[in-house]
Amino acid sequence: MKNNPEFQKAVSTVLDSKNLQLTKTFTQHGNVSVFAHSMAVAAYSKMLADKLKLKYDSESLVRGAMLHDFFLYDWHETSNIGDGLHGFAHPYTASKNAIREFKLSPRELDIIRKHMWPLTFTKLPKYRESWLVCAVDKYCSVLETFKLNKYNDFSFVNPKLIKKLQQERELNLRLEEGKGKLKEYIHRTNEEAAEKQKEARKKISELRKNNNQPKNISRYEQYKARKG
Ligand SMILES: [Fe+2]
Ligand SMILES: [Fe+2]
Repeated sequence: MKNNPEFQKAVSTVLDSKNLQLTKTFTQHGNVSVFAHSMAVAAYSKMLADKLKLKYDSESLVRGAMLHDFFLYDWHETSNIGDGLHGFAHPYTASKNAIREFKLSPRELDIIRKHMWPLTFTKLPKYRESWLVCAVDKYCSVLETFKLNKYNDFSFVNPKLIKKLQQERELNLRLEEGKGKLKEYIHRTNEEAAEKQKEARKKISELRKNNNQPKNISRYEQYKARKG
């Protein structure tokens, strides 16, 4: 996945988050951080979907998986942070934190909220992407618990490619902003020109009106005209 532009592009949209970077300091299982776990779930979910040749929303799958454990505390030290017991409540806490920072698609939200099924029995995954993350999350958790994982914080991130993609996105944003401003300027100029045209027409019609009216000649001028 390190050289997969689609995967890295989706990762690049959330990677700059300070809170996501903070997940590198929280342990998930064994010696794996929440960050490494989430990246692995995202990468394996995409690999599996590609292998099965599924039709799926790649960006939602990767972003949803990246944020599925965005609960932002060490669950080994804090088992209950207010939303309930960690196992049952952390999908909800993660979704609350994610909504605060990112604009999530319905698929991304579903992935985060339903990934603990069947533990959270009533929260049945709705989308194909949610089912994938739900299954791969369990697979990764088993690997990590038995220290069979071969991944760490750096395994699935390609900083060079991500920087390039972020620069491209920045450039596109500026281009769109420029286009918007140009449109607005043309619109304003057209409106100003129309206003000026309207004023000019008004002036012309007023002048015409005045020219057609008989001139008011004073008595003195009439007397002067008669005298020659
Ligand atoms: Fe989880
Ligand atoms: Fe997880």
